[in-house]
Formats: sequence, C-alpha cells, structure tokens
Amino acid sequence: MAAMGSAIGLGNIWRFPYIAYENGGGAFMIPYLVALLSAGLPLLMLDYAVGHRYRASAPLSYRRLHPKAEFLGWWQLCICFVIAAYYGVIIAWAGSYTIFSVTEAWGDDAEGFFMGQYLQVADHVAPGFDFVPQVLVGLALVWVVLLVVMALGVQRGIGRFNVIFIPLLLVMFAAMVIIALTLDGAASGLDALFTPDWSALSDSTVWMAAYGQIFFSLSVGFGIMVTYASYLKRKSDLTSTALVVGFANSSFEILAGIGVFAALGFMATASGVGVGDVVSSGIGLAFIAFPTIVSEAPLGGLLGVLFFGALTFAGFTSLISIVEVIIAGIQDKLGLGRLAGTLTVVIPLAAASLLLFPTTTGLNLLDITDAFVNNFGIVAASLVAVILLSSGLSALPGLRDHLNAVSAFKVGRTWMIFIGGVAVVVLGYTIIGQMTT
Ligand code: PHE
Repeated sequence: MAAMGSAIGLGNIWRFPYIAYENGGGAFMIPYLVALLSAGLPLLMLDYAVGHRYRASAPLSYRRLHPKAEFLGWWQLCICFVIAAYYGVIIAWAGSYTIFSVTEAWGDDAEGFFMGQYLQVADHVAPGFDFVPQVLVGLALVWVVLLVVMALGVQRGIGRFNVIFIPLLLVMFAAMVIIALTLDGAASGLDALFTPDWSALSDSTVWMAAYGQIFFSLSVGFGIMVTYASYLKRKSDLTSTALVVGFANSSFEILAGIGVFAALGFMATASGVGVGDVVSSGIGLAFIAFPTIVSEAPLGGLLGVLFFGALTFAGFTSLISIVEVIIAGIQDKLGLGRLAGTLTVVIPLAAASLLLFPTTTGLNLLDITDAFVNNFGIVAASLVAVILLSSGLSALPGLRDHLNAVSAFKVGRTWMIFIGGVAVVVLGYTIIGQMTT
C-alpha cells in the first residue's frame, strides 16, 4: 500500500493526462504500455531486489552491493531533498484549495487570486487581494503532520497512514470522476483525450515521453522502492507486488485522464471554445483551470473538495516516501534512532521550504532546480545505476535469483535484457536528447 502511495502522486493526476493528450491521445496507450512492460516493471523489480536483498537504506544497500556504489544512494537522496521541499509547497496549496472550494475564495478571478496569493506574496500582492498568512500556516501544518507520521516509524507511521489514506483517496477520486462525467461537454473532453493520432507512433519523442512518464510515475530511480523493500519480510513475493503496484498506478493514471478531461470538456463547452484551448497541466491545471470549473459546474463545490482532497492525499503519501529515503539514509549513516533521524531531516527540510516559498525568487529557483533534477538528475542516476548493476558489477544474475527465490512470478533472461539493454538505451537516449535541447 505504501509503494502504491508513493507511485500514485501529482504526476498521475496532473501530468499524465496532458502528456497522453500531447503525444497521440489514444495512440499513446501503445508506447505507454510498452514502456511499462519493458522498463517500468523491470526497474521496479530491480529496486525491490536491491533493497530486499541488502536490507538497508539506499546508500547502505548500494554499498553492500559494492563499496564503490554507495554514491548512487547519496545522489538519489539529494534529489529526494529537492523534490520534497517542492512537493510540500504544492500539498499545502492543494490543502488550502480543498477549503477554498467550499468558500470559493477566488471569486470570479481564479488566476488573479492564485497569482496574488501564491506567487507574489513577498514581492507584492496583486491588486484587489489581501495577503493571507494562512498560506504559510498551511505549509507549516504539512511539515508538522509529516514530522509526526515519520517519527511514529515505518509500521505505525508510514504503514498506518497509507492503509487509511490510499483507500480513501481511491474512493474520493472515483467519486470525482463520476461527477465530472455527468457534466455537460464531458464527452467532448474524452474525445479530445482518446482520439488516436496514429502518426504519433512513428515519432521518437512520443516514445521518450512514454518512458519518461513511466519512470517518474512509478518512482523508480529515487531510492524509494529500495528503501521500502528493505522493510518487507524475508518471505515477500517481490515480483507479484511490483506487478500489482505497477498496474494499480497505471489504472489510476488512466482514471485521472478520464476525470480531468471530462472536466476540461465541460470548461470548454461552458465558454464556447474547443477543448484544445483550455488544456493545461501541472500548476495551471490544478490552481487556475480547476477553480474555474468548480465555480461554474453544478455540484462544483463537491467536485472541488474531492479533487483537491485527492490531490492533497496523493501528494502526501508520495512526500512520505521521498522523505523516508532521506531519513533512512541518515539513520544508517549516523546510527541515529527514529526520532533523532526524523528531526535531523524534517527540520532543515521544513526550513528550506518555508524560506524559499514566500518569495518569487525562491519559487523561480525551485522551478529551475526542479526542472534540472527531474530532467537530468533522475535520468542520469538511473542510467548509472543500470549500467553499474548490469555490466559493471554483474549484479543482475544474483538479484534475479534473489527475486525468484521469494516470488511466484519468476523473472529470467528477458528481465536482464530489459534492464541491461532497453533501459540503458532509453535512458541514454533521453540524456542525449536533454543535453541537445
Ligand atoms: N510517482 C510520483 C507521481 O507520480 C512522483 C514521485 C516522484 C514521487 C518522486 C516520489 C518521488 O506523482
């Protein structure tokens, strides 16, 4: 459940629908499925194997695999730190917007409200809106709740939180999708999302987008699944777990595509434009398009509470997994107990995000770092990992045997070819593509 919680995050809700729409619509499902089967699931199983076999945080697991490989774990840990600071901010926004959906705090200018409240709070407040300190209160609350969950430990904190909030998230999100589907114009949104553009299949950028979405969405290459797998019992069916997590994550992603585009179809119909004119992703989709939909739709308030509530929980369960990578790594390195480890990590993290957050400069900085980390850090770290494990250290046969010893679904040579061949080629190609653009 915790692994699902990590995988199902902001990327599923606000990234996937847009990526699918932009890269061939219905036809995108083919590269997407190929990416899931040929790289996503094999790498997820690889992460599980490393963590479960060496039973430690990412840096220590890699060190046990080979003394020179420890740096990989620290690299992933640094990436997690940056992502966590950023994720915390978004979750605080999503949390506030859950309440704003009831009060319609944005009036009839969702964009002006968002810009005024959130993007320029330190420099100047957009005319017509007073700065509300609850913006910062929300962020502080995120870190306090996180501190408590993490300090409670893996079973009582992380485990229990996910067991409660993942089912709740699924129910809320399904209800949101059902409401969205009843809106006027929902069908035109689905048409826009699913109408296949078959020519996309011969475009290599579409295939790279599919692999990129799968890597980010499954949280592979961050040390997350290594860390989580280290807590599993010795006799855990690792490959079957990976299949469940992988397919649950993709199912959620497609469900999100349906819900988001049904709502966008309504928005387009209500303002008499085409769906293509209202399509957006990320911050723009969540905090500008959705509030507009909430204001205009019948049952809009409920739709908003369900959407932003789901966004909050989906983000929070991912945040937990990112921060666990850092806490586990620090605990292993410094020999700290749970509480000391949690405080050592969460306090600087909270400080970083509270200091950066209220300034436009800070947000820009965060944006740049985030783009760099996402595009370069993760892909590069994954590439080095697969090359090291497959050819450098010849670790794959041992990890394969480890997976097969405990799992019902066996992996063999195909699995090793997917990792040492397909993954290396795709990741390498992605890096070259990013360096040249
Ligand atoms: N997998 C998460 C998502 O789809 C994103 C994530 C990335 C979570 C990195 C944790 C770490 O949104």
